[in-house]
Amino acid sequence: MEKKKDIVLSGIRPTGFVHLGNYFGAISNWARMQDEFNCYYCLVDWHSLTTHPDTRELKRSVVRLMAELIGSGLDPKRCVLYIQSDVPEIAELYLYLNMLAYQGELEKTATFKDKVRQNPNNINAGLLTYPVLQSADILIHQAVKVPVGKDQEQHIEMTRNFAERFNHRYGNVFPLPYAFNYGDELIKIMSLDGSGKMSKSENQMNTLYLADDDEMIRKKIMKAKTDSGPSSPNSVKPNYIDGLFTLMKIVSAPDTVDKFETDFNHCTIRYGDMKKQLAEDMIKFVSPIREKISVLEKDEKYMAMVMEEGATKARSSAKATLQLVKDAMGLKYY
Ligand code: TYM
Repeated sequence: MEKKKDIVLSGIRPTGFVHLGNYFGAISNWARMQDEFNCYYCLVDWHSLTTHPDTRELKRSVVRLMAELIGSGLDPKRCVLYIQSDVPEIAELYLYLNMLAYQGELEKTATFKDKVRQNPNNINAGLLTYPVLQSADILIHQAVKVPVGKDQEQHIEMTRNFAERFNHRYGNVFPLPYAFNYGDELIKIMSLDGSGKMSKSENQMNTLYLADDDEMIRKKIMKAKTDSGPSSPNSVKPNYIDGLFTLMKIVSAPDTVDKFETDFNHCTIRYGDMKKQLAEDMIKFVSPIREKISVLEKDEKYMAMVMEEGATKARSSAKATLQLVKDAMGLKYY
């Protein structure tokens, strides 16, 4: 008998252009997983409302993100690609899980503390319970593998805790999910100044987007932070240099990376040359994706069809899980 494929779920917020952190931390794995597993990928528009309450740009952002995901290699015929708000079952599961989530653990979540610091005037309940909604996204399909970047690790641990609590209290419904990456470790792509992770809210000059044109890619990479080079052989790389090497390992040929690694270790590296090479390799990588995205984005009919088909498939799986949840809880009175 053929072995049942593991269920995969991941999500991304429609809050800005897709950047290389999203791409290399998550989406490239999503694309790779499509045939091996049973994959659900969700545009989490409800999550974006926790920080972006203004909905006037939302439609554009959702369509754009959908095009970016397909342009990056997701194939709506080989995975279920859908929008969170098309699946109200997620909201119902979120409600049940909220009763199993405690104020103390939610307040301690790193992303919550960051958001409170960044925006002290909008500490809403949705922000506090963000990891619970994320758990509902994952558990609604009984997913086990969650391909995400390093920054999401804590949320997936919380999901496991909520699932365990549910199973313990009401009966075994949920498998316990874990953060997944093909390599040994979850990925963290640094911003080009090495000051933190590449992110949508970072200074845009330190973030590379799939939407950046060739000139912009060159400009950003050539301005990336470097220094005068190591002064002793085999030094430890500073954060910002390590970040450039990480990008190079992803988009350049192995012998190119080796050459610059050797130059670094022998203290003969010329960062100008390295950045020039990286920029050209990055352009080769990004520009075909960018072209695909711009064609897709304009094809309104196709995009609408993808969204509708995704919604139907996602709802059918979500309904089945929700029924198991309600049966386990005994929410049936007549
Ligand atoms: P979001 O929208 O911030 O990012 C989407 C994915 O991109 C990864 N990522 C990175 N990976 C490596 N280096 C970086 N600099 C970097 N920046 C972003 C993120 O780890 C993520 O995998 N809470 C989630 C969205 C979400 C979700 C879910 C994810 C909602 N429900 C259920 C998984 C499962 C978020 O804000 O991702």
